[in-house]
Amino acid sequence: MKRSILAGFLFAALCLPTTPSSVSAKDTKKAKTADTTEVNFRKVWPLFQKHKCNVCHTPSKSPKGTVIPPPANLDMSSSAKAYKSLVGVQSMQAKKGIQRVNNTKGYSGALRVAYSYLVYKLLGNHRQYGNIKGKGAQMPPVQHGMDHSDVREIIQWISDGAKY
Ligand code: HEC
Repeated sequence: MKRSILAGFLFAALCLPTTPSSVSAKDTKKAKTADTTEVNFRKVWPLFQKHKCNVCHTPSKSPKGTVIPPPANLDMSSSAKAYKSLVGVQSMQAKKGIQRVNNTKGYSGALRVAYSYLVYKLLGNHRQYGNIKGKGAQMPPVQHGMDHSDVREIIQWISDGAKY
């Protein structure tokens, strides 16, 4: 199952220039019925903590006490803030319309994944696609990327609807 999600993602990434409306009702139905246990954010949050995303992506204070926003304005200082800052939020770096984590209703799981900038940043291929136009480094920038099994779990979470 997980393997097919990844394959679906790669397929959807290749098809990105097509409009979202090209997803058939059959695809959506398949995504709904295929999974029995949904991955929710509480399950993936420890993976973000493990890779210290929250250590960098947190607001700080200047010596004068002014609040300095987190890198790329992505606040992962708590699980609730991270969820709010990731899901359904336009990416600062990528092209308009590309959200950090896409949870658009009516999209198939594979399409939600294909339109989620976070996935590209974790895989390090965010600069490869003209229709994404990503910038900056792979995340996390310090350890040359997350373990693939962790990325897979995050992809599964997005595919399952990116629920809390
Ligand atoms: C060492 C500090 C550091 C760590 C650790 C880190 N980040 Fe980042 N992150 C940054 C900086 C700085 C930027 C902006 C520059 C860049 O993209 O290279 C950024 C940008 C991003 C963006 C782009 C946001 C947008 O709206 O376009 C995402 C998504 C992101 N980080 C997610 C993560 C995740 C998820 C993790 C953990 C796996 C993580 N980061 C770990 C410093 C960090």
